Amino acid sequence: MEKRSIGQLKVTPIGVGCMGFSHGYGKIPEHDYSVAAIRAAHDFGCNFFDTAEGYGEQLFYTGHNEEILGEAVQDFRKDVVIATKFNPRALPETLTGQKLYNFIRERLLASLLRLKTDFVDIYYLHRTHDDIPIEEFAEIYKKFIDEGLIREWGLSQVETDTIERACKIAPVAAVQNLYNLVERDCEKNVFPYSLEHKIAVIPFSPISSGLLSGKISTQTQFEKVDDVRNFVPQLTKENIEANQPLIDLLTDLANQKHATNAQISLAWMLKKYPNVIPIPGSKNRERILENLGAWNVELSDSEFDRIEKFLETFEVKGHRGIVESNSTTFIKSVEVK
Ligand SMILES: NC(=O)c1ccc[n+]([C@@H]2O[C@H](COP(=O)([O-])OP(=O)(O)OC[C@H]3O[C@@H](n4cnc5c(N)ncnc54)[C@H](OP(=O)(O)O)[C@@H]3O)[C@@H](O)[C@H]2O)c1
Repeated sequence: MEKRSIGQLKVTPIGVGCMGFSHGYGKIPEHDYSVAAIRAAHDFGCNFFDTAEGYGEQLFYTGHNEEILGEAVQDFRKDVVIATKFNPRALPETLTGQKLYNFIRERLLASLLRLKTDFVDIYYLHRTHDDIPIEEFAEIYKKFIDEGLIREWGLSQVETDTIERACKIAPVAAVQNLYNLVERDCEKNVFPYSLEHKIAVIPFSPISSGLLSGKISTQTQFEKVDDVRNFVPQLTKENIEANQPLIDLLTDLANQKHATNAQISLAWMLKKYPNVIPIPGSKNRERILENLGAWNVELSDSEFDRIEKFLETFEVKGHRGIVESNSTTFIKSVEVK
């Protein structure tokens, strides 16, 4: 397994998305279970873990997820790459200049405390802000790098115009966008641009919130509280049905290769782009290890082509995309019925 680059950092080709231990997928596991699951991922060989200050806001307090990750990795902190995020939705008003710097710095220091560390490897801007230009944030993140508080910085849910503007102030190391077999907007501009400029693309929801695992059917009931699957566009009953031919293809390939559907969907993107580093999320220890095991699943050229040819003509049902305004982010804009 060859490591991949995020700026100066070297990470395993697949990381662990820790969000589900605190937020987004219904009932969360016991604290000790989550800590042990993260340590099991490290024992398996993974050195890349993704969290955010905001993971926990609906079921628990903000920062819950960072605390779990910090506790889990404290004994081997220097061996792992920790990515966390500042959410500009946390701003009480439109701040600029020194006030904005002070506000974000305070949030960063709070993240460091929860993560039990004195630096963050990758600090993302979780979303852009409608009223604060990206250049303002870039200047601030640059200062954090100079101060040694963070090593690299990244953006999330952005198109290339934003990346380009940000890079003029401080080189962006990572772009964390929605990307998977049914959400391929990044292929148009973001991948070509990031390949050219040596930026890593970190797909979130790489298994499309579970759809691509083949474990979700029209009968699956999602939880009523804090479960994003209630509004993932591909997961309405009619779209699950319409997208079934893609799941069938993955199942066929998985059976042939003694792998799982989730592994095939991850192996596909690893083969497609040398700068892609997906961070599948699961609150289940075995599934975390299964997903990491996808770095050992290699698609042959003909298996890869079979998927690509299928995608050329298959019309996916349901689309979220990567363009979100800060005031209408995915989770905030939809209410769970
Ligand atoms: N930047 C952003 O705005 C943003 C947004 C969303 C997420 N993220 C990050 O990206 C990470 C991953 O995204 P995600 O969790 O939304 O989506 P995901 O990885 O595509 O899917 C997570 C869902 O799939 C299920 N699942 C995972 N592996 C499975 C497997 N092998 N077999 C069957 N089911 C499986 C999980 O269920 P179980 O838990 O029951 O296994 C969970 O319901 C998050 O943890 C978070 O760190 C970032």
